[in-house]
Amino acid sequence: MQDTHLAALSPDLQMLYAAAVVARQNSYSPYSHFAVGAAVRTAEGRIYGGCNVENASYGLCCCGERNAIFAAVCAGERNLEAICVVADTEKPVSPCGACRQVMREFNIKTILLGNMAGAIKICTLEELLPYGFDL
Ligand code: THU
Repeated sequence: MQDTHLAALSPDLQMLYAAAVVARQNSYSPYSHFAVGAAVRTAEGRIYGGCNVENASYGLCCCGERNAIFAAVCAGERNLEAICVVADTEKPVSPCGACRQVMREFNIKTILLGNMAGAIKICTLEELLPYGFDL
């Protein structure tokens, strides 16, 4: 797990961060007031955004990173290479366990966790989810 900053990222990863920040603007989070944005990049370079969407029945809330992955998959994508997740946290946001398992499903190699100040952690799936579930 590598700690870095937005300014030190390659241009394509800076673009992925920017897409996650834009996606976060659509967060529907009237219950937690915790807005999350995410963006997924495919092997071909296409980018899909997602945000968290909450519900009065709290258990139905869906995380931003899962919505971004599902948006890509629903568009027919299968080769997901990188994801960036952002929230207004002191340290780079930590994705929940369910989202880590969904990242594993699509074998996303590069995972960027960020905050709104541009602090970034770059990590692998194995670092985030050792011994994840598989069939
Ligand atoms: N949330 C995410 O979008 N991603 C995570 O990895 C953790 C939590 C959302 C779910 C809920 O809308 C809000 O943050 C508070 O838990």
